[in-house]
Amino acid sequence: MVAKSTLFQIILIFGYFLSSSCQDFIFNGFQNASNNMAMGYSAKITDYGMLQLTNDSYDLKGHAFFSSPIQLIKTQDNISRAVSFSTTFVFQIISKPGSENGGGHGLTFAIAPSKQLPGAASGKYLGLLGPGNNGNFSNHVFAVELDTVNDFLNDTDEDHVGIDVDDLTSEILENAAYYDSNSTKIPFELEDTGLIQAWLEYNGKNDVLNVTVAPLSAHKTKPSRPLISGTFNLTAILKEDMYVGFTAATGKLASSHYIMAWSFRTEGTARAIDLSKLPKFPDIWSNHHKVTIIKIVVLSFAILSFMVILIVIFLYLWHRAKLSETIEDWELENPHRLNYRELYSATNGFSKTEVLGSGGFGNVYKGVMRQTGEVVAIKKISTSTRQGMREFIAEISSLGRMRHRNLVELRGWCKRNDDLIIVYEFMPNGSLDTLLFNHNNNAQTTLSWEQRLNILKGVASGLLYLHEEWEKVVVHRDVKSSNVLLKSDLTPKLGDFGLARLYNRDTAPQTTCAAGTLGYMAPELLQMGKATTSSDVYAFGVLLLEVVCGRRTIEPSAPDSERNLVRWVRECLVHGGLMEVVDPRMEEYDGQEVEMTLKLGILCCQYRAEVRPSMRQVNNYLNGTEQIAAGDLSLVSVDPDLMGSESTCSFSLSQGMISASSFQGGR
Ligand SMILES: *[C@@H]1O[C@H](CO)[C@@H](O)[C@H](O)[C@H]1NC(C)=O
Ligand SMILES: *[C@@H]1O[C@H](CO)[C@@H](O)[C@H](O)[C@H]1NC(C)=O
Ligand SMILES: *[C@@H]1O[C@H](CO)[C@@H](O)[C@H](O)[C@H]1NC(C)=O
Ligand SMILES: *[C@@H]1O[C@H](CO)[C@@H](O)[C@H](O)[C@H]1NC(C)=O
Ligand SMILES: *[C@@H]1O[C@H](CO)[C@@H](O)[C@H](O)[C@H]1NC(C)=O
Ligand SMILES: *[C@@H]1O[C@H](CO)[C@@H](O)[C@H](O)[C@H]1NC(C)=O
Ligand SMILES: *[C@@H]1O[C@H](CO)[C@@H](O)[C@H](O)[C@H]1NC(C)=O
Ligand SMILES: *[C@@H]1O[C@H](CO)[C@@H](O)[C@H](O)[C@H]1NC(C)=O
Repeated sequence: MVAKSTLFQIILIFGYFLSSSCQDFIFNGFQNASNNMAMGYSAKITDYGMLQLTNDSYDLKGHAFFSSPIQLIKTQDNISRAVSFSTTFVFQIISKPGSENGGGHGLTFAIAPSKQLPGAASGKYLGLLGPGNNGNFSNHVFAVELDTVNDFLNDTDEDHVGIDVDDLTSEILENAAYYDSNSTKIPFELEDTGLIQAWLEYNGKNDVLNVTVAPLSAHKTKPSRPLISGTFNLTAILKEDMYVGFTAATGKLASSHYIMAWSFRTEGTARAIDLSKLPKFPDIWSNHHKVTIIKIVVLSFAILSFMVILIVIFLYLWHRAKLSETIEDWELENPHRLNYRELYSATNGFSKTEVLGSGGFGNVYKGVMRQTGEVVAIKKISTSTRQGMREFIAEISSLGRMRHRNLVELRGWCKRNDDLIIVYEFMPNGSLDTLLFNHNNNAQTTLSWEQRLNILKGVASGLLYLHEEWEKVVVHRDVKSSNVLLKSDLTPKLGDFGLARLYNRDTAPQTTCAAGTLGYMAPELLQMGKATTSSDVYAFGVLLLEVVCGRRTIEPSAPDSERNLVRWVRECLVHGGLMEVVDPRMEEYDGQEVEMTLKLGILCCQYRAEVRPSMRQVNNYLNGTEQIAAGDLSLVSVDPDLMGSESTCSFSLSQGMISASSFQGGR
């Protein structure tokens, strides 16, 4: 049993020797090859299973040999001969990114007596030999160079394949190329061409050596015609035990040199490399570049958002500056001051769509106060006189405390630059003049006598309050039908104290500037610019006549004798036929009341201020608590002709405002 098993072992050992006489190995990638490969200098196996001979740093050399020696010379019958062998490998040369002259220097498949390669140098020596031993026959080095730099005497092209024997000046040299099936030579570059496969066959019987190279992208199998085919007496070059492997180097030019797979066999054809198992470079898009792109995207997004934030801040500050107001000390002393921003938003930025009306002073806007929801009328007046504005604010501020059912309530005011903004309660029914004079109105909206009388009584009551019942005497100075605003129940409210001036009862009536509306201005106001309660009474008299007659105080289209309402009514009163002036649209009315009202109107419109009734008397007459005495009207007939004063004014007969001071200045 023992002898049997021993014999079996001997047979096994003998078989091993038999089989070991033929060397055969294959690396489809070098993942598990570190024990089988002896690497020197920059050579290493990468994480991805490639044999990296050099990276693309300058002046590197690297080599990697199969760790066991291969017997390449065999002696039979006292005759030594080189052994046939075959090898194939896949390599890739990637030049240094951004290098203009390409990379360097190249790699070799080398057969050498040592794994250490003493004296090897970088650069053009490809990590195989060095300046000390290049060309020395004692080297016993055989190599196939895959050179990418034209740097030795007989090199003809940058990308070339050469057979080197003890010397890097090649014995045989061919530019990198392969022959296609039609035997057409197709050149290609060794650098940056992707994966390239090389085949090397040596026939020890006839010393024929064939070298073939082809890019994998063009040829998956070996081209039938080799690039180099020649006879080499390797017996004279090689020693018995040799190491096979690769070398590469970088110099002033640099490339990364990789061997991806390798198959070798003596005395037979090397096994084919399984191309599907080649190690792969990491998907640069999924890692490095992806990260870079994400960085770029994030960075640009950050910059973009930063700019957007800047713009938003800028717009916000700009908007704030637009709405800002400089508040002077005196403004704070006056109550009812409103915030410009509040009014700005109430009127949608003083939008044109919110305009209720406009006049020489500016626009009136409809607005909704955001905080209370109250609808208000907002009057925006542009003025350039700072002093006038200050006085004006002082006046209207105190008016803000004024409460009377026949006076439009002041909600507040605001000053911004040259703009004065006054906020009143909103009167939905508009003003009296539109109801009175708009002849397009249908019969339903024609005011009845009762309604007209009530409106007049209300206005009279409001004026009386201004003149006598408020703590100061307030001259309205602009009583007219368009300043009489109506509530939904037709309760009148006298509005627009825009031109009113205030003065204490004690001080003499003194104004610096007079203004009013043509047709309502008392003679003394026109001539002297003196606004008094009497000039208000005059204007109210005109209003009385307008309401009864249903026409404007000055009607340019009427016949000459009827053009001026006051004069016409007076003529009719003096010469008879007073009731002819009554609004023809008014169907039913109390004749006595109408007559009294017309007479009262004439009484108020007397030429001389001192004979006009006071507002208290006017109220009494309207309410019937006092009767107009026949004698009161006796002076009327001797009043100078009103046209006299009118003719001294050379302004147009429009409803616009005129300033009496400018009028005086013109005289
Ligand atoms: C490397 O070795 C491991 C286990 O040692 C094995 O699973 C794997 O298939 C080997 N890879 C290659 C390419 O030989
Ligand atoms: C290239 O290889 C050399 C030698 O192995 C090493 O010192 C160097 O750090 C490597 N450079 C890079 C960029 O990996
Ligand atoms: C081989 O050579 C040796 C001496 O050099 C000699 O002794 C031997 O007989 C030779 N063998 C053959 C088979 O020629
Ligand atoms: C060749 O190498 C051997 C051994 O290294 C050395 O002795 C010899 O001088 C060298 N020859 C030349 C020409 O450099
Ligand atoms: C270069 O090649 C020529 C033939 O092309 C040859 O004669 C010469 O010896 C070669 N030079 C070297 C240094 O090998
Ligand atoms: C080889 O030549 C034939 C005929 O000239 C042609 O049809 C074919 O495309 C060629 N093949 C290649 C690989 O060029
Ligand atoms: C080498 O190439 C020649 C010419 O193509 C061919 O005849 C020969 O069989 C090849 N030898 C080997 C070992 O492939
Ligand atoms: C090859 O070289 C060896 C040793 O130098 C020699 O004995 C042999 O004759 C050579 N063979 C040929 C074919 O030249």
